[in-house]
Amino acid sequence: MCGIVGYVGEKSALDVVIEGLRRLEYRGYDSAGVAVLTDGVLVSDKRAGKLQNLEKALQDTPLPVGKTGLGHTRWATHGAPTDANAHPHLDNAGKVAVVHNGIIENFAALRAELAERGHTLLSETDTEVVTHLLAEQFEPSGRDLAEAMRRVCRRLEGAFTLVAVHADAPDVVVGARRNSPLVVGRGEGENFLASDVAAFIAHTREAVELGQDQVVELRREGVTITDFAGGPGTFREYHVDWDASAAEKDGYDYFMLKEIAEQPKAVADTLLGRIGADGRLTLDEVRIPDQVLREVDKVVIIACGTSFHAAMIAKYAIEHWTRVPCEVELASEFRYRDPILDRQTLVITISQSGETMDTLMAQRHAREQGAKVLAICNTNGSTMPREADAVLYTHAGPEVAVASTKAFLTQLVACYLVALYLGQTRGTKWGDEITEVIEQLAAMPEQVDKVLDTMEPVRELARSLKDATSVLFLGRHVGFPVALEGALKLKELAYMHAEGFAAGELKHGPIALIEDGLPVVVVVPSPRGRSVLHDKIVSNIQEIRARGAKTIVIAEEGDEAVVPYADHLIRIPVTPVLLQPLVATVPLQVFACELATAKGHEVDQPRNLAKSVTVE
Ligand code: F6R
Repeated sequence: MCGIVGYVGEKSALDVVIEGLRRLEYRGYDSAGVAVLTDGVLVSDKRAGKLQNLEKALQDTPLPVGKTGLGHTRWATHGAPTDANAHPHLDNAGKVAVVHNGIIENFAALRAELAERGHTLLSETDTEVVTHLLAEQFEPSGRDLAEAMRRVCRRLEGAFTLVAVHADAPDVVVGARRNSPLVVGRGEGENFLASDVAAFIAHTREAVELGQDQVVELRREGVTITDFAGGPGTFREYHVDWDASAAEKDGYDYFMLKEIAEQPKAVADTLLGRIGADGRLTLDEVRIPDQVLREVDKVVIIACGTSFHAAMIAKYAIEHWTRVPCEVELASEFRYRDPILDRQTLVITISQSGETMDTLMAQRHAREQGAKVLAICNTNGSTMPREADAVLYTHAGPEVAVASTKAFLTQLVACYLVALYLGQTRGTKWGDEITEVIEQLAAMPEQVDKVLDTMEPVRELARSLKDATSVLFLGRHVGFPVALEGALKLKELAYMHAEGFAAGELKHGPIALIEDGLPVVVVVPSPRGRSVLHDKIVSNIQEIRARGAKTIVIAEEGDEAVVPYADHLIRIPVTPVLLQPLVATVPLQVFACELATAKGHEVDQPRNLAKSVTVE
């Protein structure tokens, strides 16, 4: 939420910053702004709306060239998305510029205090107080911007990433972080700060992950990191294992289309190297000792949104393969209901970004209660894996479109792996059973590919439903979370009323929604395995069809029982029951994406949303 870039080096800071903001626009697109230091003078421009508004303004009225600068793309929290509330915020003398991601919880008190001391604050944002505090602290700190930042940070409550420049501190950019992401990029004679490595990946792949409550000072020749008290910093240097091309659209109209198409590879990459020389499943990053895993008596999985749907599916696999009770919880609800956790609880957090504030806070709460936490995450260098006891990385590569697709499929793979690993460690699964599932998983990239190859009728169907006002999604067993995911995708992309239900719940109320012509998508479980469920859902399809619903049925190849009741039939390959979400979700992603496109929506940047939700 909000994207931040800082640069110091030999290039035009404006060019570097704008390019970085373009790659971070997925984090928020309510406004954009830049500030550049040029010959001891601070110049700035900022505009409401997308980055292109700012770029247009800068074409009409260019800023002087400077080699130190910062920029911001905003997802509004305090104050409407106007020019005045856009970042950067400057002090009254126009010397300090600050950009911010997060929420400063004590800003009202600080604002009142500043007003009393004669400061005039021009915006409704919480950020502006930092600008004024920094301006006040600069001289008393010996004109050392990093020291001024440390002093200011000690007064702030809440979550924040801050980046600042000062006209009287040439060639210096200072950043600070608490609970919000900030990564350093180290180049030759130039250094970068950003919310995400994507912003500087075209310049360097050498990154530094900052610990909690750190201040970083960037100069051309180096980077200095300290804690808020000025003591030694905590950080980890790492090499980013993907390059700029991974964050490009690559000929696709939208990142979402590219990311849907990348799913077979993402699934394959997440499975890579998981079998050791002894033929056993090895999850190298899972540093929780086997003995601890053997003593676990409950698993709790915590996540938000799409990641929560992955968690729901994981529950089926974990309970079936390990016989350990598994609870699934929305992160935003978790810590507020006093959950029962202890040393024998294994908590799994699932997050693409590793920065979602609700999940991060839930993870911290779980650790405070003594539970061991395993984070399933897609973003190296992010906060959740750093703070967890163990991590399992998904290898989806950068996901830029706001709507999650390939991250979801890889989260499922990671969940299956964790479930199998628990089964292996606790002896509830034989070695050959595990090998069999791993082989089935290894076949999934090809199956996903097959689904992708047959999507034209789904796109056509989506276009034909452009004027529908509502779509329902039904599923049973692991198809239920898939239905929820289908509905979520449609809501966020097509801005349509969409709801997912467990098909068995229909008769307990939602069936009253069915009326003539209402499109209802039904995810049908495999007729093999749990065939009772299959038969029940076929009855459910008949029930809704009898009441006028237009049935869109997603069913396995060869499932003939559904044919008479399907107005539209979408075929998916035959898969093991528990793995079906890996193929059944794909048509729903394509459906939502195409419907949104038909409605003329911006698929990669749906309204009101941001990819990384760093506020609670
Ligand atoms: C939906 C979507 C969101 C995220 C949710 C959690 O397409 O992308 O619902 O899944 O905000 O984000 P992460 O996984 O980064 O914690």
